[in-house]
Amino acid sequence: MTEPHSSTLTRRSIVAATAAGVAALTAAARGEIIDVSAETSHNDHEESGSGTVVEMPFGALEDGTRISMIRMTNARYMEVGILTWGGIIQCLCVPDRDGRIANVSLGFNTASEYEANSPYFGAIIGRYANRIANGRFELDGEEFQLETNDGPNNLHGGPQGFDRRVYDWKDVSKDDVLAVRMSRVSADGEEGFPGELTYNVTYTLTNDNHLRIDYFATTDRKTVVNLTNHTYFNLGGEGSGNILDHVLQINASRFTPVDETVIPTGEHVEVAGTPFDFTKPKPVGQDIADTSSEQINRGQGYDHNWVLDRDGTDDLFEFATLSHEPSGRLMTCRTTEPGVQFYSGNFLDGSLIGISGQPYAYRSGLTLETQHFPDSPNQPDFPSTVLEPGDEYRSTTIYEFSIIDAD
Ligand code: BGC
Repeated sequence: MTEPHSSTLTRRSIVAATAAGVAALTAAARGEIIDVSAETSHNDHEESGSGTVVEMPFGALEDGTRISMIRMTNARYMEVGILTWGGIIQCLCVPDRDGRIANVSLGFNTASEYEANSPYFGAIIGRYANRIANGRFELDGEEFQLETNDGPNNLHGGPQGFDRRVYDWKDVSKDDVLAVRMSRVSADGEEGFPGELTYNVTYTLTNDNHLRIDYFATTDRKTVVNLTNHTYFNLGGEGSGNILDHVLQINASRFTPVDETVIPTGEHVEVAGTPFDFTKPKPVGQDIADTSSEQINRGQGYDHNWVLDRDGTDDLFEFATLSHEPSGRLMTCRTTEPGVQFYSGNFLDGSLIGISGQPYAYRSGLTLETQHFPDSPNQPDFPSTVLEPGDEYRSTTIYEFSIIDAD
């Protein structure tokens, strides 16, 4: 990892975080696990620091376009690095119970690896998260045919989705709260979607170790929108093994089962008595291999949308907790969305070499993609994903990092 190319890009001074801590974060972003326990406990008593936002070069795409990483570092040694390609979270560096920092998100060290190989690691997903059956839908009697890239279906917006685009970035930090906004305009007809969509995604890092992601979009013509983030989490640190020992709870008593091409059948099915029951905390590996479940077989593990037990509002709702006993890391998740796609990394097969030089083995990361339900444009009974001119699309998800209580 190279150092910032210009110190004038550093907008905020580090108050509580020490130089040693920042050096440790830089190393953690490279995949090294670093012990900053002494500095971390020091900071627990001194949280007046405002952190930093720094732009760093991150290589170039095949066509020569230069990519940056925008690195936010808070006063408690948590760091989030966002790429101007795909809005990708390349680094999500979080302390464990002993203050050792590791990158808990899977990814690569170079822009060219992201461009050539990435299964959506850390990226913004749009214009439509997950699948649209046969890449086709109708709006007001007009049929739209999208690019297809997953058998007959459109997956994550198509072959050139929002994960494969260059973004403008802006530091929108306020007071003690660090924030970076990635913006772009998606042309009318891009990947087959109607309407010019103007959108941005804001990543906010607080001194409570919360990463908040706010999505915003407007259109000049009726369209469909469903945005998410595709970070693969491994709370033991990327490259440290599989996620079967992670304990997951999802506040959802129903999920949307899928057909052979992983398109929802339209039903909402109770999770009780099935491998999909995460209403109480359960190790991810406990029922993942239950091949007596047709749905497990169709997803090749977990790759489904859970219907969150919301209270009828679109307020922020605590939808999941993910914990990892060996490191003590705990992630609590909130969203304004009605659903979450829990994907257990079933298509990772060891062929991709990640940030720390380790192959990403089968199920070595999992995603919790907040969303409207897959294929909603073709499912009249699902909550609508239509965006009209003059309306605003807004969605928020927060991933909060802390340490499991000792008792
Ligand atoms: C989908 C999977 C897909 C994966 C891509 C997930 O959101 O649900 O089916 O394979 O993204 O890596």
